Formats: sequence, C-alpha cells, structure tokens
Amino acid sequence: MSKGLFITGTGTDIGKTYVTALLIKSLRRKGYDVGYYKAAISGAPSVGASDAGYVNKTAHIGEDEDLLLSYLYDHAVSPHLAARWEKRPVEKEVILQDWQRVTAAYPYVTVEGSGGIICPIRDDEKAFFQLEDIVRWLKLPSLIVSPAGLGAINDAVLTAFYMKEKGLPVQGFIINHYTGSPMEQDNLRMIEKLSGKPILAVVADNDEVLDADADAIIRLYQ
Ligand SMILES: Nc1ncnc2c1ncn2[C@@H]1O[C@H](COP(=O)(O)OP(=O)(O)OP(=O)(O)O)[C@@H](O)[C@H]1O
Ligand SMILES: [Mg+2]
Repeated sequence: MSKGLFITGTGTDIGKTYVTALLIKSLRRKGYDVGYYKAAISGAPSVGASDAGYVNKTAHIGEDEDLLLSYLYDHAVSPHLAARWEKRPVEKEVILQDWQRVTAAYPYVTVEGSGGIICPIRDDEKAFFQLEDIVRWLKLPSLIVSPAGLGAINDAVLTAFYMKEKGLPVQGFIINHYTGSPMEQDNLRMIEKLSGKPILAVVADNDEVLDADADAIIRLYQ
C-alpha cells in the first residue's frame, strides 16, 4: 500500500514546488522511493517547464512526464478558469485513475496542490469541486508551506484553521525563505503556539538540501 502526503501552502508562488523538490530529493537520498504528482497545473507551456518537470529533474525522480500530472493548462489563472477557457474540465475519474498509476509505481507519493488550500478546480454546469475535495478523494494528510516573514503568522494560522474546520488533517509546517531574523524566529514560535501544529523544517533561499530527519519526515506520509 502506497502512502501519500499533500503539500499545500499559504498562497500561490510561496515555494511549494521548491520545497517539495527539496523534500523529495532528501528522502530519495536516504533510500526512500518517493514520487510526485500534481492534479492540475496552470500557466505552463509544457510538462517539462512546469512544477512537475522541475521536481522530476531537481529531485532526480527520472519519471515519464505523463505520470507526474493529470491536467496542464496554458493560462496562468486558477485551474477552474483555465479549464473553462481551454474547454478541458478536470474529471474526478481521471484523477483517481492517474492516482492509481502513480501509487502503483511508488511506495510514497508527494502531491503538490495548486495555489493555496482554497482553490476551485472545476466550476461548470456538470460539476463543482475544489482542491480540498481532491485531498479528500486521495485521503491525504497535509503539510503547509509558509513564508517566514512579515504577514506569515496570519496566513499560516488561517490556513491551518481553515483546514481544521474542513476536517483536513495537517501534520505541520515547512517554513520557506527563512533568514533567521529575530522577527522570523518569533513568527515561528507564534505560528506553532496559535495553530497547535509543529514546524518540521525551515528552508533558506537557495538551500539545496532539506535540513530535517528523513525518517521522521517519511512517517508523515499516510
Ligand atoms: N527557498 C527558495 N530559494 C530560492 N528560490 C525560491 C525558494 N522558494 C521559492 N523560490 C522561487 O520562487 C518562485 C516561486 O516558487 P514556487 O514555484 O516553488 O512556488 P509555488 O508555491 O509552487 O507556486 P504555484 O502556486 O505556482 O505552484 C520560483 O521561482 C522558485 O524558484
Ligand atoms: Mg508550484
């Protein structure tokens, strides 16, 4: 039975892909056969140039591109809007089928979300669902990637509270763009105190390894 972990973030462009690549790279170095999957990517011209291609290369997964994601959209807007414009709605059956394929290939699969946790994936006359529904279909626990700086307390704690309200299990945070300044150190303390969730690792700009215990991180996959 394969295990999975969902990587969400406090917003778009906050480093989910960067952190996910580091995480998978570090786990693979320790001998864990960890794969990657993203249901929908918007704003990329090809798989190779997308989040999936970046992680595949950086984390040395070496997988066929078509196993890494289900939907690729050209327009850099929320997947539900890109899908409408490009007339290619996300189908639940396709996601579940692709999930079967990737979990058959890897004992551990890291799933990157699109945007933050509130992200509509499909909104048309036939169906409505959001990213959090995909997390539920795949029965995944989550990690939240959050920047370290000013505004992080609000964004990180709101994301954790929203997920708690929606019954989505959160394993903790990975803090990105960490410089270790006194304010950031206090942000980390406050995020843990107010959310009740642990900070599992911090990532500085241009880090090439994840400074965390791989055996502890792998136990977050369920
Ligand atoms: N720790 C870091 N060091 C250097 N560059 C970083 C770091 N974190 C993020 N970046 C850069 O910031 C940009 C946005 O990061 P990234 O693509 O990982 O965000 P994201 O949350 O995955 O975005 P999306 O919502 O589009 O999936 C990228 O150019 C990435 O290389
Ligand atoms: Mg990304």
